Amino acid sequence: MPHGRHTCVTTRAPRLSRVGRVASMHKSRVANTFHFATVLTSSPFCSITFGFVLFAMSIVSTAPLHFRAVNLDANLTFVLIVAATLYIVLPFFFRKNIVDKNGNSIPPGPLLRLPSLPDYPERTLHAWAQKFGSLYSFFIGNQLYIVISDANVARELLVNNGAIFSSRKQYFIKNQTILRGRAISASPYGETWRQHRKVAAQLLTPKAIQGYNDVLDYEARIMIRSMYKESMQGALPINPAHYTGRYTLNNMLTLAFATRTDSSSDPLIQRILAMALEFNDLTGPFANLVDFIEPLQWLPNRTHARAEKLHSEFIEVYGAMIMAVKARMDAGEDVPHCLAKVLIEGQQQEKLDWEDMCMLSAAFAIGGVHSTSGIIQWFLALIGKHPDIQARAHHELDAVVGRDRWPVAEDEKDLPFIRAIIKEVLRVHAPFWNATPHSSTEDFVYNGMYIPKGSALILNCFTLHHNEARYSDPHAFNPDRYLGDEMSCAESAHQSNAMERDHWSFGAGRRICPGINVAERILFLAISRLLWAFTIHEVPTEPISLEEYEGTSGRTPMPYRVHMLPRHERVHTALEAEQEIANCEL
Ligand code: HEM
Repeated sequence: MPHGRHTCVTTRAPRLSRVGRVASMHKSRVANTFHFATVLTSSPFCSITFGFVLFAMSIVSTAPLHFRAVNLDANLTFVLIVAATLYIVLPFFFRKNIVDKNGNSIPPGPLLRLPSLPDYPERTLHAWAQKFGSLYSFFIGNQLYIVISDANVARELLVNNGAIFSSRKQYFIKNQTILRGRAISASPYGETWRQHRKVAAQLLTPKAIQGYNDVLDYEARIMIRSMYKESMQGALPINPAHYTGRYTLNNMLTLAFATRTDSSSDPLIQRILAMALEFNDLTGPFANLVDFIEPLQWLPNRTHARAEKLHSEFIEVYGAMIMAVKARMDAGEDVPHCLAKVLIEGQQQEKLDWEDMCMLSAAFAIGGVHSTSGIIQWFLALIGKHPDIQARAHHELDAVVGRDRWPVAEDEKDLPFIRAIIKEVLRVHAPFWNATPHSSTEDFVYNGMYIPKGSALILNCFTLHHNEARYSDPHAFNPDRYLGDEMSCAESAHQSNAMERDHWSFGAGRRICPGINVAERILFLAISRLLWAFTIHEVPTEPISLEEYEGTSGRTPMPYRVHMLPRHERVHTALEAEQEIANCEL
């Protein structure tokens, strides 16, 4: 009945006659409720349940008298409604302090929960690292992220406690929809991951790489020759992305399927590169709201539809390529050692299903194409801005290799400045600023801070790479900092003193990039030869941005053009040697 509430107010009002007192009571009740709600917020589900109880109570208080068990006043009704609303709503906006049985809290971090991180998430993560320290936490939706911004902490958690911190969060878009928990990268830590990683590693050991050194060498030659020809011997500026993409794609096609694309206009190149770009775009660790708000996953949405389509495309394209290798084997061809052959031969023994095989093959194109291509593009973008560094590299190449031949893999150990340039590009422009988040499979306490099972751990490479205690003047592009470092990136990653590791671009611990050795070889052949052949200049009217980039998981520079001027007469001779190229053809 309508005057139930009214009666309540009129009968009680005289005793609370002063408006100020009523207001201050409201205020303090609201404040208490707020405090109560913040302290008690557990999961949003619990909050919703508890919130409904409060709502029910407030409804009871406003219900017709004969339905009420208790006759509550209007103020209390108001407080209950506010409390219920806050209790339901707050957990979606505020962090929750999780504490273990010994009272250890999760690492500090921002108060608000976020729906996602803004573009260029490394900037936000870096700013928070300055504020909250080397180990902090934040929430996206209901997912707790733990951010590691210090080399020693990274080693202690990801390496020394690798048995706990080596799984993967099952992102709805990336891991559940596109990769279906496979492709090594998406697999949870366990026997299947170990077995798949072992299969891929057979192709990626330093010894295995020696087996296709000629092919990598050949592809580097083709890349540089195409750049030389299509820039009209340096007369026109070019956008290097197309050539670097084809170079790294052909390398991966060789490793995975013992095949390559003959022409830069081959539609397969465009298709695979487009799929890899789509993958980069869809799978940033903080990119998709639907990853963090479960109810959204039950509704049809565009991101999910794109992810489903990409999954089907992976099966179609990589499945067809595996079948092509099988057809060659069935026809009696002695197919060179490659991933597809290993998969076909080991399918029974390794208990691989068709999706395993397709996704394992996709892993090479996903992990190995845009990453290496991006580093070569970052190198070309940077080097034109540093003519002094470029001149020193030219000097080293002239002194060690000379102009009668160009550098080969065996020269790497004698070219410390070129090696230093490559490490410095990897430091200042890591393709994955946040690596690929690991996730924890057990509760853990580090330095009194609680890391609950199921946390996602981010290796904050941007902050690690700009730590002044490790890299003086960290924002400067200064290859000299790596002179005297004779280790490969893989060797450096295993050093016991984490502060001496060269950089963290390949990740850390048991999930460290298995392509690290082949990536280094691919980068050395490309970058040493680009420097041997050309002087690289920025186009004066087209300044290149080093701040912006494309992609949410992997990052490549925004499209740009550079001038690449042949450095000496021998460049023409080396690049015009058609005969030599024909002889190398697969
Ligand atoms: C410059 C080149 C490259 C960079 C910077 C790079 C970086 C990374 C990073 C940061 C991770 C995640 C590591 C972690 O979770 O701690 C990773 C994983 C991975 N990378 Fe690379 N990568 C590169 C090239 C390659 C190449 C050439 C291949 C293939 C031949 C490859 C295949 C993979 C695979 C399969 C994984 C997943 C490993 C796992 O989850 O166990 N990557 N890479």
